[in-house]
Amino acid sequence: MARKVIIDSDPGIDDAVALTVALFDPRLDVVACTATGGNVPVEQTNKNLQALIERLDPPRLPRIGCGAPADSGTPTDARHIHGADGLGNLNLPVPELHHQHRAEKIIHDEIKAAPEDVTILALGPLTNIARAFRRDPTLATQVGQIIIAGGAINQIGNITPAAEFNIYCDPVAAREVFRLPVTKTLAPLDVTRNLEFALDLIDDLPEETTRAGALLRQLLPFLFRSHRQQLGIETIHLQDTMALLYLTDPDLFETEPMAGDVETQGELTIGATVFDRRIASTWRENMDVVTSVKAEPVRERLRQLLRNAGEAT
Ligand code: RIB
Ligand code: CA
Repeated sequence: MARKVIIDSDPGIDDAVALTVALFDPRLDVVACTATGGNVPVEQTNKNLQALIERLDPPRLPRIGCGAPADSGTPTDARHIHGADGLGNLNLPVPELHHQHRAEKIIHDEIKAAPEDVTILALGPLTNIARAFRRDPTLATQVGQIIIAGGAINQIGNITPAAEFNIYCDPVAAREVFRLPVTKTLAPLDVTRNLEFALDLIDDLPEETTRAGALLRQLLPFLFRSHRQQLGIETIHLQDTMALLYLTDPDLFETEPMAGDVETQGELTIGATVFDRRIASTWRENMDVVTSVKAEPVRERLRQLLRNAGEAT
């Protein structure tokens, strides 16, 4: 039976790749997609999510939840990587947004509708997820698991020297989610950086004549260009897609249980993830952390999933 999943994302080009793959993977039942602010402000991610789903037109339409600005964190964005609109400056047409539901309500309702069966895949700042569990703490006993794309173990950050972007954007929310008594897995930057994608990924995308292919053939060249121009690297990292693949193909990854928390106040370190790995550790383990990836098999699996998305569109 397909696994029920709620995808909370801040689209973002790497979010768009993950959504494209997930919405056409028969192993998944994407019951809802919710938008959170991050790569671009939340007003724009709300539009981007709606536009992507409209454009991809998957066989089963997920419920859509709109985000609202975070209560904590330093306002920032990643427009230099994803474009002014977050989606490679495509300015996708956005359908009229009728009957908008708040993201935290959708998350709440979908977990309640299928207790213990729903996985949350968190691909952006954790604002919505923290709000849903704050609003109803009983969700902690009813959610299946949470997989989080974010944080760093032994690595330098990607938004500050110390912090990874998704955690930095809303560190208070991230701390709340880290501390939830829920099965959690973190897919951190350490592993993302061991999973590079070269330009030949574009050759393996579905044909231009398919909805998935047409979209990704517009988006991915922008991401390669921005990585070259802004970061000086010829390859891209797809953190969000990696987290999705951990959900669908966990045998391609290794994890370790760890005790993790988030720095919410440091002048230089706000948003950094901190793990107690002392020999005489006193913190309780509260999550599994992805520590290694079988890079070539994951790249091959992604190509295969992209082909499937092409065939379905
Ligand atoms: O650190 C990378 C993450 O931040 C990705 O989720 C990207 O989309 C941004 O949200
Ligand atoms: Ca993201």
